[in-house]
Amino acid sequence: MPEMESVDLETDLSLFKYDDLEQLPDEYRGLDEQERTERIERALATLGDDVVVLGHNYQRREVVEHADFVGDSYELSTRAAEADADHVVFCGVTFMAESADVITDDDQQVILPSMEASCPMAGMAEALQVDAAWAELTDAAGDDDVVPVTYMNSYADLKAFCAEQGGLVCTSSNAHRAFEWAFERGDTVLFLPDKHLGENTAHRLGLEDSIVEWDPWDPDGADAEAAAAADVVLWDGYCQVHERFREHHVADLREERPDANVVVHPECRREVVEAADVVGSTSTICETVAAADPGETWAIGTEIHLANHLQRWHPEVEVLPLCGDACMDCNAMRQIDPNYLTWVLEELVAGTPTNVVEVPPREADLADLAVERMLEL
Ligand code: 13P
Ligand code: SF4
Repeated sequence: MPEMESVDLETDLSLFKYDDLEQLPDEYRGLDEQERTERIERALATLGDDVVVLGHNYQRREVVEHADFVGDSYELSTRAAEADADHVVFCGVTFMAESADVITDDDQQVILPSMEASCPMAGMAEALQVDAAWAELTDAAGDDDVVPVTYMNSYADLKAFCAEQGGLVCTSSNAHRAFEWAFERGDTVLFLPDKHLGENTAHRLGLEDSIVEWDPWDPDGADAEAAAAADVVLWDGYCQVHERFREHHVADLREERPDANVVVHPECRREVVEAADVVGSTSTICETVAAADPGETWAIGTEIHLANHLQRWHPEVEVLPLCGDACMDCNAMRQIDPNYLTWVLEELVAGTPTNVVEVPPREADLADLAVERMLEL
């Protein structure tokens, strides 16, 4: 491993990672759709190849229709790195923009239209908090090695922390390989921050009998001795959009529509994942519907905007939200509204880039190392 200085974790816990956020100026509030669309198109035409706009699959229609690329979180970061553009406007959430900043060239600037677009699940495992748990866990583990593995949905300082402690990053598609990598190097995997993805992965690898949950908010809940003796320690984080899906949603659907197929994201609860026909990242969900035969029915267990996009993109397939009207949008993704997009693009035209996400260099190098280890899986 290259020699690197360690990351400074002397930051405060906060709701938004970037507190110096700039709010939308008043003149951008209440733009009508036609004016906004014209202004966005004009700005994009002026900026040409200087800008690339990325839209996560969960962004609303009025945003993704302006994106050069629409995709899953990691795929979009790789698009940013491949692009020659000086400016990357990332319509997604903070951890995604940070990842893009980590893997793009130093002379590329990453812009997140609204700094309030912070994934609550990423915020459930702040590096400072994990550092404290790590001390307890490694103390209890004695000579046994604990290897931290963090999901892509985490902040750059946590990715850096994992690299520093001999661990790595994973996506929902390669979490099982990341676990295998970790078990070649240690006895216990500490998985952060999504307990459902961690549990689903542990089950996939047959490790279901040796899982312990670590609840950092419950002073009596985290038993370091028991955790250190387990194969897998799950940080108690979750996504409220995906937790909403229940086993009975799949059972009810199968009763009402025996012809329907079910595809869900691995951030869903284990019972839901086990009841589904296909499980995978937002890209896998898109590919599954794209490959469906005309007339097939697919129920989608993920964020509602993606289900709506899929119905628009594939009118020959019947697309249903898995829990009907109870399916949620992501309140972090929702912060990026098209008025914000208009604003940051017009600021770029004016030569005043706004809401730039910049991961500090030492943190970025270590986070990059954690991602590099993932790429070598
Ligand atoms: P993907 O990486 O599958 O796009 O998922 C990101 C996400 O935030 C899921 O909730
Ligand atoms: Fe975070 Fe869940 Fe939103 Fe994904 S859907 S960005 S995990 S809150």
